[in-house]
Order: sequence, then C-alpha cells, then structure tokens
Amino acid sequence: MTDIAIIVLAAGKGTRMKSDLPKVLHRAAGRSLLGHVLHAAQALGPRRSVVVTGPDMAAVSDEARRIIPDVLSALQSERLGTAHAVAAARQTLEDFSGTVLMLYGDVPLIAAETLRAVCDLAGSGMAVLGFEAGNPHGYGRLLQDAAGHVVKIREELDASPSERSIRLCNSGILAINSKLLWSLLPKIGNANAKGEYYLTDLVELAAAVGATCRLAMCPEWEVAGVNDRVQLAAIEATLQGIYRQRHMLNGATLTDPGTVHFSADTVIGKDVTIEANVVFGPGVTIADGVDILAFSHIEGANVSSGARIGPFARLRPGAEIGEDAHIGNFVEVKKAMIGRGAKANHLAYIGDARVGAKTNIGAGAITCNYDGYEKHLTDIGENVFVGSNTALVAPVTVGDGASIAAGSVITRNVPPDALAMTRAELDLREGWAKRYREMKAARKAARRNK
Ligand code: UD1
Ligand code: MG
Repeated sequence: MTDIAIIVLAAGKGTRMKSDLPKVLHRAAGRSLLGHVLHAAQALGPRRSVVVTGPDMAAVSDEARRIIPDVLSALQSERLGTAHAVAAARQTLEDFSGTVLMLYGDVPLIAAETLRAVCDLAGSGMAVLGFEAGNPHGYGRLLQDAAGHVVKIREELDASPSERSIRLCNSGILAINSKLLWSLLPKIGNANAKGEYYLTDLVELAAAVGATCRLAMCPEWEVAGVNDRVQLAAIEATLQGIYRQRHMLNGATLTDPGTVHFSADTVIGKDVTIEANVVFGPGVTIADGVDILAFSHIEGANVSSGARIGPFARLRPGAEIGEDAHIGNFVEVKKAMIGRGAKANHLAYIGDARVGAKTNIGAGAITCNYDGYEKHLTDIGENVFVGSNTALVAPVTVGDGASIAAGSVITRNVPPDALAMTRAELDLREGWAKRYREMKAARKAARRNK
C-alpha cells in the first residue's frame, strides 16, 4: 500500500465567524473543527501530517498536536491562495514519497472511508473529490473528458455562463502523488480573477504531462464547510443526527432522540436507556445497562454498568460512578469516586471525594471541599449513612459503617462504626404555638374594635 501524508489547510482567519478564535478551533459536538478533520485523516494511518496555519495561530498548532502528537506545522505568512498554502508545507514533506492528501480544516464532516477512496483512486496520478451541488454558486466546477476523468477545475469567478451551469463541484479535497505534486506546484501562477495561486490548477497541469485525474464522489453534506456560525450550527445538527443514529444502532434506547446531545467522543454501552434532554459533554463513557433519566448533564465522567443517573443529575469531570450506584435529582458529582451500589438520590454535592460501596448520602449532604484557597479530599468508607443536610468539611475521613446524624457539620475524622452528631439540644415547649396563635388573634381583634 502507498504511504499517505496529509496536509490540512487552516490558514484562513474565518472573518465571518466574528470571533477572536481561529475558525478551525470552533467546536461542533465538543470537538474542534480541525479535530474532526484530523480524526478522520488519522484513520488512514498517515506517515506524516502537516497543518498549514497563518500568523498568530499557535493555538491551532497546539490543538493539532493534542490530537496527533507528531504533527508538523507550516506557516503561511501571507494568504495568497490554496496552492501557496501547500507550497508552505513543502519543506516538511521534502523527503516523503507517496500520496499527499489535501484537506480543509473547516470541512469537518468528511468521512475516513471517503478519504480512503480518494487516495486509492489517485494511484500514481491524482484524484479529486467532487459532489453534485444543490446550488453550485461559489464552488469550482469540475470539467470532465469523455472518459469521465477531470481535465480542469474552473473557479466560479473565472467560469463562463455555460460552465457556471455545471453542478459537479470541487470539494477542495484531493490526493496526488508526491513527485507529481512537487513537479507541478511551482508552475502554478496567479493570473486569474482573484489573483490567487489556485491549487485547483494542478488538474490541468497534470493533464498536460499526461497524468490522469480521477473523480471520487461524495454527498454534498459530507463536504459542507463552515464560514459563519449559522453553518456551524448546521454542522452541529448533522453530527448530532449521525451520533444519535449510531448509538441507537449500537444498542442504546433514546426515548426522544432529537433532544439528546452527544459529543464526538461519547462512548455508550449496550442496553443503555437515555431519556429526553440529556447532554453529554466531552470525555464521557457509559457502560452497559445504565439508565440516564431526563435532564441530566454529563461531562468528563465514567459511569459503570447498572448505574442510574438522574433525572436532573450533573456529573462533572472526574466523576467515576460505580456499578449499580444511583445519582438522583439535583445531585452534582465532581472529581469523585462513587462506590458500587452507593446512593446519592437527592440534592447533594460530592466533590473531591471517595464514597465507598453501599454508602447512602442523604438529601442536602455537601462535601465542603474548598476552603477559599485550596481543594481538600473527603474520604467516606463503605456502608456509611450520611444523614440529610450533613456538611462534611474537608479534609475529613469517615470510617466504614459509620453513621452521621442529620444536620451535622463534620470537622473531624469519624472512626468506623461510630455515630457522629453535631446538634443543639432540642427545645420543646408544649402548647406554645397554640398560645402564640391565640395571642396574635386577640391583638388583631383589639385593633379592629378600636
Ligand atoms: C476552494 C477551491 C474550490 C472549491 C472550494 C470548496 C481553490 C482555488 N478553490 O475555493 O474549487 O470548490 O474551495 O469549498 O482551491 N486557505 C489557506 N491559505 C490560503 C487560502 C486558503 O490556508 O491562502 C485555506 C482556507 O482556510 C480554507 C481552504 O484553504 O480552509 C479553502 O480556501 P477558500 O478561500 O475557502 O477557497 P474557496 O475560494 O472556497
Ligand atoms: Mg471556501
């Protein structure tokens, strides 16, 4: 099999996003647009990956490195066109031989199988990825010969009226033999309507040296680009549709699929039920047989099999929910391990904590993990009963089998099997409320009779 190198063009600032953030760092389904492209490309096992960025876009290189640690960055200091951008990457690929695949950082829905097909078609020549556009306005048009090979790509601004009526369009994604690429690239000029160096000129130059440009096709939605936030929202909607279907086909029940929001990396096991209005932020793994009830928000969390989450639960980064544990309504868990079969069913905050197996956390119990300066650990053993409205002032340890009485403020360690209780003596006054009520009624009557 031929080696593959990828070049991702990402030097565009994305002015229409009206943002301080480079366009390709905007997110859809919790993953940057660039991240989507790199994940798809990575499935091809490229020998080398290069991202072309513009000035002041170190954050783009950083993001690329997070996904592909040995990715190379090339700087295109002036934005003079797509061919100029590829030329900026040349140095990083000088000693590479094989197929070079060009991708756009702002075309995030592209599938790995499609990229594979483009590379396979390129062979020792080149291949472009085309699509039938509903509205071809703004795209380069693909001109074919009788055999169906692509002989030229005509940019919109340079096209004649009859060429403009062609709906077969260029996605921008193309694969080309490295030797052919570097021999043709210097021949590309900028004598066109935009005065830019067009990478698309490669096709005509290849034909001139007898190299064939084959055509791969994909549906239009797969090569949809992002230029503004309306298009970003459309990409998000497409991704959500894909993920919902994927998780259902993998054995999850979604009772109201259109209201469930996944991240690109969400992992869902078999026989998981997800009710309406559940949001999965990045970094979530849900094991088999978990029930996630309506209106839960889950991010950076692992949930073990048989657990029940929600309704209205919030799992924040570092939440590790054990097998068969229950996390109920208005319970927030952050950076905490909840043991097997443990329960926090109502109105609690468990942060920076360990909760042992079978322990019960009562309504309104809180780990006071922050002293205004630092975070501290609350370590609760197994089979502990934490009464309602307990404040556990960390750092603090509660031993196995201990009981904490409702309303207690725990500031010292509780030994195993002990009872801990901080409570003022109950002051009970027989008949007081009745006397008070009668006194108030009498005063009101006296005022009225005055
Ligand atoms: C390009 C194609 C066109 C295709 C269309 C698909 C060319 C000449 N035309 O046109 O045939 O139908 O994409 O969307 O290639 N970029 C750089 N540096 C540059 C210029 C562009 O990195 O100097 C990057 C952009 O950030 C973007 C991509 O390359 O990700 C495409 O550039 P863009 O200006 O959008 O090209 P189009 O005019 O849309
Ligand atoms: Mg464009």
